[in-house]
Amino acid sequence: MRALKTAILSAALALGIAGAAQAAEGVHIPKQSWPHAGIFGTIDKAAAQRGFQIYKEVCSACHSMHLAPIRTLAGIGFKEDELKGIAAGYEVHAGPNDAGEMFMRPGVPADRFPSPFPNDQAARAANGGALPPDLSLMAKARVGGEDYIYAFLTGFEEPPPDVHVMEGMNYNKVFPGHQVGMPNILQPDGVTFADGTKATVEQQAHDVATFLTFVAEPHLDARKQMGVKVILFLLVLAGLMYAVKRKMWSTLH
Ligand code: HEC
Repeated sequence: MRALKTAILSAALALGIAGAAQAAEGVHIPKQSWPHAGIFGTIDKAAAQRGFQIYKEVCSACHSMHLAPIRTLAGIGFKEDELKGIAAGYEVHAGPNDAGEMFMRPGVPADRFPSPFPNDQAARAANGGALPPDLSLMAKARVGGEDYIYAFLTGFEEPPPDVHVMEGMNYNKVFPGHQVGMPNILQPDGVTFADGTKATVEQQAHDVATFLTFVAEPHLDARKQMGVKVILFLLVLAGLMYAVKRKMWSTLH
């Protein structure tokens, strides 16, 4: 018993210390409110569609999203013909043809989003040595997830007077080390939303973070719905079992 208590105490202590260490070296990432949070939450499709527009018009100049097929967008409400139109707007590398040559052709929904650079070296060369990471799983790759993406995109600011920012780098208050190779890219009204939503920097950061959350886990909504159904089923089953148990034991008393 004592051994168990000691084990539990030391585990709690270790967790506590780890937590404190993380808080000390990391920057506080404020939590935003997301309609997709919680077990009943679902992706805000209108926001995710606006987020896709931002990815397409702004982020995709530097960032790939090479794990996502274009047809993934069906999950945020794009119809089949819209998907075909979006896909056809991309030129994808294909081949080889009968002559053994690679060629370019318009995309189809089954293609993955094409990368802006032919390889990592070209991507680095165009970005002052920094590699723009692939965004397919970004919402899962950083502690804080979508809250981090939001904080990062809205976190560019003038450096404090005692901080010297290296050439080609930018100051970002949440990026580890604060110096980042990505420029402050979101501008007020930098995009024009078809649904009339005002494109403030915060709005754009929120929408693109919603979109990247969807891309990182396109079946999240379905998974949650299944979870709720399973729990309902188990509750009903538990009720039935209880009724059966009472019925069977009633003759034994
Ligand atoms: C001009 C090129 C460029 C554009 C446009 C751009 N980025 Fe970046 N981004 C970069 C580079 C370069 C890095 C890597 C920075 C580094 O490691 O210092 C980066 C890093 C990131 C990171 C990772 C930060 C981290 O914690 O490692 C995220 C998230 C990100 N970008 C999101 C976006 C989003 C979302 C957009 C569109 C709104 C966007 N970027 C537009 C160049 C760009």
